[in-house]
Amino acid sequence: MKPQHVLIDTDTGVDDALALVFALRSPELVIEAITTVAGNVGVRKCTRNVLRILNLVRSMHVPRVAEGSPKPLYRPLVTAPEVHGRDGLGDVPSRRRIAGLAEAVRRNAVREILDACDRFGDRLTIIALGPLTNIAKAWRKNAESLRKVGRIISMGGAFRVPGNTGPVAEFNYFVDPEAADQILTSGLPVRVIPLDLTETIILHWHELRKRARKEGSELSRFLIRCTKHYMSYHRKTRGFFGGYLHDPVAVAAAIDQNLFTWRTMEVRIETRGIWTRGMSVEPSHGRGRASVAVAQTLSHRRFLKLFTSRIWNEAHG
Ligand code: RIB
Ligand code: CA
Repeated sequence: MKPQHVLIDTDTGVDDALALVFALRSPELVIEAITTVAGNVGVRKCTRNVLRILNLVRSMHVPRVAEGSPKPLYRPLVTAPEVHGRDGLGDVPSRRRIAGLAEAVRRNAVREILDACDRFGDRLTIIALGPLTNIAKAWRKNAESLRKVGRIISMGGAFRVPGNTGPVAEFNYFVDPEAADQILTSGLPVRVIPLDLTETIILHWHELRKRARKEGSELSRFLIRCTKHYMSYHRKTRGFFGGYLHDPVAVAAAIDQNLFTWRTMEVRIETRGIWTRGMSVEPSHGRGRASVAVAQTLSHRRFLKLFTSRIWNEAHG
């Protein structure tokens, strides 16, 4: 199968970083560009974090990096330093100057997204790992170009499980509910990877440390350090010393959709609620178009085998 052309839009926290390494080390994907969006941390930190990961992964094909929106479409930014650390990557000091930052900041994420759609058309997959602000801005700027995209895979939403940001909302859709509702009702070919699935997969600290020490690279030593804050957060709040792999699950959907089962449905995001802001629902009256494919199940064994073999550069049978 020919490699797919991919643009990753990310609010580069810890699980985003794991997703970036997973994607960059997967031969099925050619990462053409990485755009940043404010979410887990401010957008400049997201851009620095992407460059830091690229510098550690040293992949043959170096994606273009373009900085995106510093805040949601209408609302003040809400970040998650308690989850990912103040810098987004577990507050691990960087001993190096971040190369390429000025160039990435000069570029425009919305322009990068639209150019990728024009260039690759239906051979392009956009993997959205954060709030959908950049994607919504691209839709508003040139819907005709964005419609050329093959797929948009969005990590977001919570349908039959409690939210992780307040009682009912998932973080990405909570941060920018208007952007999420716009994209999920646009008729674009969106596939959603919700908390319902991503909270069924945990990477435990002892597992990560064992495999990282075995690989023994600068990247794997960094992954041990940058995940500690994220995993300690879950130990405090969820009772396990480990981390959910929200964003790596979205990357897996780009690599092999057949790891999942899907249901196509209408999805709306609450934009008017006080206590339900960002909630993802399937309207019961179902007047709208059932155009969003929502992942229902995931083959855990096959996912974990794929993820760990790529992250740790192990042979994948
Ligand atoms: O709710 C989890 C999602 O929000 C993940 O993408 C995480 O990185 C944050 O962006
Ligand atoms: Ca994310």
